[in-house]
Amino acid sequence: MLTFNRRKLIQAVAISGGVAALPLSLSSHKALAQESSWAAKKKYVQVRGLSMAYYEVGEGDPIVFLHGNPTSSYLWRNIIPHVQHLGRCIAPDLIGMGDSEPLPDSGEGVYKFSIHRDYIFDMLEAIGVRERVTLVIHDWGSGIGLSYAQRFPERVRGVAYMEAILNPSALPQIPEPESGLFNIFRSARGEEAVLQDNIFLERILIGGLSYYLSEADKTEYRRPYLTPGESRRPTLEWPRELPRGGNPADTVELVTSYSDWFAESDLPKLFVRVNPGALISEGPLLDFVRGFKNQKEVSVFGSHYVQEVSPDAIGRAIAEWISSGV
Ligand code: BEZ
Repeated sequence: MLTFNRRKLIQAVAISGGVAALPLSLSSHKALAQESSWAAKKKYVQVRGLSMAYYEVGEGDPIVFLHGNPTSSYLWRNIIPHVQHLGRCIAPDLIGMGDSEPLPDSGEGVYKFSIHRDYIFDMLEAIGVRERVTLVIHDWGSGIGLSYAQRFPERVRGVAYMEAILNPSALPQIPEPESGLFNIFRSARGEEAVLQDNIFLERILIGGLSYYLSEADKTEYRRPYLTPGESRRPTLEWPRELPRGGNPADTVELVTSYSDWFAESDLPKLFVRVNPGALISEGPLLDFVRGFKNQKEVSVFGSHYVQEVSPDAIGRAIAEWISSGV
């Protein structure tokens, strides 16, 4: 028996249009993508034999926006307009998320952080992103972006980050009410909670944002995960990758490595502190990031998915920071 209230979830889904539990065929997915005005704006590139989607607008030095779980390039739709006059804005969909193709042989452990990272690295290479890159990063997109900056420091101009995954020893517990759900995701009950009942998307993202999302926004965020089963696997693997008590060891090592590197790097940084936020609004992780070199800090109101709450404040802060020469 799962501890969350399944009846409440079903009611919530019913109220919001009842689409979340309906299995869809591949052709229905394609039809839905054709109806999505956001999907219609995307470009596609082949990476390691799979099609990856990205949104692109503007010209000049690249500004790369990396989303985390369980979002997509859509997360950045209200922020990019503030900066698109300043460069070539690129917002990829991570592999298996948004409109990027799923990995073959999906199953437990297939959507590791390191795999997502490798697909994005190759994708950026494939679309000619190689120099003077500004990174704008959130959630697990921060892990990918900071790994990129660590691997290719000469390519990166600066990093703007918010609600980032940093420093495993200082990463706080996920606050209530989500913390109990994270324990379920990391347990054997996660498969039913996420692959069958889509709880990460419905409760953490959509439930957590409540009235900040329009019905059209909810439809767009749900679109990649309408079919129960492996299509939802990325949204289950991400909470399992979060460093906790030294696990999973390979990811903890990677997060520790890029965090230590970033802390010592002279790279220009914009720290978007989210208040009340979930990860870096107070405590040891806030102290840790406030020690970073060459950093400007701005504070914005919001929760973990702050782009849906304060997009204009974030967009203006990033535009001002980039315009100042970074
Ligand atoms: C996460 O995916 O890291 C996350 C999601 C919601 C709240 C806090 C963290």
